[in-house]
Amino acid sequence: MAELARVIDGKAFAERLRARVAAQVAALQRTHGLTPGLAVVLVGENPASQVYVRSKAKQTRESGMAAFDHHLPADASHASVLAQVEALNADPAVHGILVQLPLPPQVGEAEIIAAIDPAKDADGFHPVNAGRLWAGQEGLVPCTPLGCLLMLKETLGDLAGRRAIVLGRSNIVGKPMAALLLRESCTVTIVHSRTRDLAAECRRAEIVVAAVGRAEMVRGDWIAPGATVIDVGINRIDAGAGKTRLVGDVAYAEAAAVAGAITPVPGGVGPMTIACLLANTVTAACRQHGIAVPGT
Ligand code: GUN
Repeated sequence: MAELARVIDGKAFAERLRARVAAQVAALQRTHGLTPGLAVVLVGENPASQVYVRSKAKQTRESGMAAFDHHLPADASHASVLAQVEALNADPAVHGILVQLPLPPQVGEAEIIAAIDPAKDADGFHPVNAGRLWAGQEGLVPCTPLGCLLMLKETLGDLAGRRAIVLGRSNIVGKPMAALLLRESCTVTIVHSRTRDLAAECRRAEIVVAAVGRAEMVRGDWIAPGATVIDVGINRIDAGAGKTRLVGDVAYAEAAAVAGAITPVPGGVGPMTIACLLANTVTAACRQHGIAVPGT
């Protein structure tokens, strides 16, 4: 099948964003003596979480910011995680706090997220930040949908009036993605597992953001010719001969034959998430110090 779509290179985009963040950090240090700091709290030994956390700390330091890692054991009590978050809320060297999810079952996720100072909520998961996003107020925005939005604006320019569909309604991606697209004056549809005719809904969209966590669910004939497709999914599937392979929520080859532009998996949305986390930390640090926030 011929690939017609422009491939949206998230890796290259993330490199440029990280370079901009590093320049902003250097300027903050030069003109204000301020070094933004990001604290990451990891509870337990989830291997995927350990990989993410290491990558976050490495990229934070590479951008010139301070990285604070707090690793608690898998049997850490709810109270001890809460105490850790409260200590970070009170620490003036920490401008951004991220509690890596998932948390072990004895730790109440919603309560821990709600304990983070909203001004330091680098993930944008606190209900106050979620509410501010929907209310059109200034806050901190979840990193993955923010990365998707930046790539869409770079690909399409002004998004106003475009028909956008978001597949998935999670608090981390689907809901904030829909809010961001609405803020850009898109006509937004959110679809989910109980939607009646997903394919027909999808075919009407000029912008498709797939965040359902189901390998290659979105087929080529769901995509309108020329549409822009952002694939948030990262699914590991059996590739035979004892091997596995990463695929998105979109059947890439089929979709790329009809779309105008598409993000690959891997190398699309993934690299943008940490770059946006770094940008959020700079934003949070500036606001905490009453300094104008550099644009991303
Ligand atoms: N676990 C998987 N993705 C994320 C993320 O973006 N933030 C946090 N805190 N945990 C995660």
